[in-house]
Amino acid sequence: MAIRTIVLEDDPVLRKKSRPVEKFDQRLWELLDDMADTMHKAQGVGLAAPQVGVLRRVVVVDIGEGVMELVNPEILETSGAEEDSEGCLSFPGQYGLVTRPTQVKIKYQDRHGQWQLRQSTCPLMARAFCHETDHLNGVLFVDKVSRMLSPEELEEMA
Ligand code: NI
Repeated sequence: MAIRTIVLEDDPVLRKKSRPVEKFDQRLWELLDDMADTMHKAQGVGLAAPQVGVLRRVVVVDIGEGVMELVNPEILETSGAEEDSEGCLSFPGQYGLVTRPTQVKIKYQDRHGQWQLRQSTCPLMARAFCHETDHLNGVLFVDKVSRMLSPEELEEMA
């Protein structure tokens, strides 16, 4: 396992569309392990493969309940809407208000290629899934913010 470098906001790789994973091999498992380590070290709740420069549809999420690995994730249904502050490991220190669904139903493959279905009614989980899935399509949270938080508001959050 290794810590990978997280690419930052101006890197064009963040704007590219990621390709589906076809091989569920050692190389994928290393990527997943490294992404989990990298996310934890950076104290994030989610990380998408393009953020470490790999244009594959791979995401890790950990909202404090353990690491979830999502390969080729697809959001099947969403409901609810909530505006809350949101950030991104590729935009250190920047936060904005983004409206996201509060419930999602997703399908994805696990590290062995088995399809899994997951329904979440946790707003933070729904937000993380939506944010990370956007990354796979070159979409960033700054595209969806109603406004960025001011330095004063950031201080209050800290
Ligand atoms: Ni992000």
